[in-house]
Amino acid sequence: MRQIQQIQQRLRDFGEPPDLGLGERSQSQVSVFFTRPFLALHYATELYTARVVLALALELGWELKLRKGATLDELIEDFAPQSRTAAEWMLPFLVEEELLNMDGDRYCLKGEPELDLEGRRAFADSEAPGHGANFELLDAVLRQVKPFFTEGKSGEQLLFDLTIFPLWLAFFRNENLNYYPNNLLTLIALREGLPPNARVMELGGGAGSFAQLLARDAAEAGYLDRISEYRFTDIAPAFLRKAQRDLREKAPGLPFTFSGLDINKPFDCQNLGGGLDGSDGLFDAIVGINVLHVATDLQDVLRRLRGLLKPGGRLILGECMKPDLARPIYMEFFFKFVKSFTEVTLDPDLRPCSGFLTPEVWEKALLAAGFSRIKQVPDIRSVMEACPTFYVGAMAAEA
Ligand SMILES: C[S@@+](CC[C@H](N)C(=O)[O-])C[C@H]1O[C@@H](n2cnc3c(N)ncnc32)[C@H](O)[C@@H]1O
Repeated sequence: MRQIQQIQQRLRDFGEPPDLGLGERSQSQVSVFFTRPFLALHYATELYTARVVLALALELGWELKLRKGATLDELIEDFAPQSRTAAEWMLPFLVEEELLNMDGDRYCLKGEPELDLEGRRAFADSEAPGHGANFELLDAVLRQVKPFFTEGKSGEQLLFDLTIFPLWLAFFRNENLNYYPNNLLTLIALREGLPPNARVMELGGGAGSFAQLLARDAAEAGYLDRISEYRFTDIAPAFLRKAQRDLREKAPGLPFTFSGLDINKPFDCQNLGGGLDGSDGLFDAIVGINVLHVATDLQDVLRRLRGLLKPGGRLILGECMKPDLARPIYMEFFFKFVKSFTEVTLDPDLRPCSGFLTPEVWEKALLAAGFSRIKQVPDIRSVMEACPTFYVGAMAAEA
């Protein structure tokens, strides 16, 4: 397979890991991002996702039209109106992945469709064993998402049902090299400025992998006693219940409290406790990993979060970072069917599109919401330039 050979060449060509300027301990922790299993898994997932997207296009019956060449409108004409948002991402992504050609505004199949999912999976299994669930999650999306197009069913309902839930749990783990960088970079940003007796709140804590990493790291490096409260929150009752059941054991030493919390709803009626009169603020740090991009009105959410922070307190966000807003990246695939990701209030400067943003847009949005002293971990743009497939970063911003 040509692409696998190209990946093998890229893996051979990849030199020394760049110095991310994070200090010795952090640099040694992030060195895993520049190892062969990490890079191979990342490349293989991209190739696999592209073939899943092409397989979905063929299952939707687009093959004949794509052979002749068709516009986006022609492709989605018999489908539910919400199909447009997904197709607007799928088609340019397939062009980017060299599976479609573009001729003016018409999309055309490039040769015979090549859908060898097994081959990509076998390559990933040999280079980075133990990541089968990531591919099963993509397979499950392919299996379940068709009614989003054909019947206008909600993506939330199709992709977050009970059959897929275990795969999501398997995905949000520190052992998953595709997900771990989100947690590790956020951890580095958080631990650097943690004051004594810190009250920390996590937004969208989900499967609890960040809390587990923090507990382990804080115990190892001796800063566990700096945290006087760890408020774990999530919008989803299933995640919250699981966290309440498991986390005291899986993240020992963190002084947990738990609250259901929807970032898009006013905080004063969500049981966060006293201090919400705007005078003092409640938390020394608020952490959110891949959750703030679901803010329906990002400026409003950022401002309200600032109001929950003590003076000098910090908002720490870990996010998939896009190199370029117009360019589709494979991590977006799952989310293009989910309204909380796609239906947000836009602003030409501060929220030019839904979903993942560039580091520059995040900085602008944080500054406009009144945050200052923004620190990127690592310098996100320079790492993206050194490693063109590195799409993740964290930011710390002072209230
Ligand atoms: C990418 S996951 C984060 C996973 C988590 N860091 C972990 O390690 O498992 C995003 C989380 O945000 C939650 N979420 C989605 N919409 C939300 C909202 N409006 N308010 C708060 N949390 C939300 C989801 O339930 C999910 O658990």
